[in-house]
Amino acid sequence: MITNPQSGTRVDEVAPEVYRISTPVSALPGGFSFNQYLVVDEQPLLFHTGLRRMFPLVREAIAAVMPVERLRWVAFSHVEADECGSLNELLAAAPQAQPLCGRVAAMVSVDDLADRPARALADGEAVSLGRSAVRWLDAPHLPHAWECGYLFEERTGTLFCGDLFTQPGAEHPPVTTGDVLGPSEAMRRGLDYFSHAAGSRSLLEKLAATRPRTLACMHGSAWTGDGRGLLLELADALSPAAAS
Ligand SMILES: [Fe+2]
Ligand SMILES: [Fe+2]
Repeated sequence: MITNPQSGTRVDEVAPEVYRISTPVSALPGGFSFNQYLVVDEQPLLFHTGLRRMFPLVREAIAAVMPVERLRWVAFSHVEADECGSLNELLAAAPQAQPLCGRVAAMVSVDDLADRPARALADGEAVSLGRSAVRWLDAPHLPHAWECGYLFEERTGTLFCGDLFTQPGAEHPPVTTGDVLGPSEAMRRGLDYFSHAAGSRSLLEKLAATRPRTLACMHGSAWTGDGRGLLLELADALSPAAAS
């Protein structure tokens, strides 16, 4: 469903009650896309806010699914403009909403930047949304930022995997079973946004252990399939010498 014809912002259900909001941007070289994910439940959660300047588009897209005021949690992987640029605008629009992030993010940035205190999660800590629950997984420096981490939604097996598997281009199907590792590795070769920290492989193994069925990528299509296998393929691509 297109929610803004000018920008091409659209909303699609990529897993039961998990909605991908996507805005294509053709002004960037080669085109790019910015996704947010909305989990509709008793305590609705948004993963990533989008850029601050995209706030009207994201608000309009959320409103096509549910009243924005119902939002309870505004979660994000790490502190960058596309991940949390309109955090305060969302907190203002939704009086019950609270930032949801890892402990490092809360300590270093969010409890200063945000207009309401964060609910800070330890590695492995879960929060109930009602029917479903999300679990925070610390992933420092994978692909970048000390405070980086991800949420795993247990009911649908969806891993909100942020900048992992970032695909170039502006237009993508909402969800695909096709190759996302190839395009994201091609992009990384030209624009390496990974920190290549020593712990990358063990962190990818930790994410793989959740055995996700959907990888909710922030840039490009969401992907469905054997998420464990694909995360381990990414680990091999990042450190080919260590691949077995
Ligand atoms: Fe990022
Ligand atoms: Fe991003």
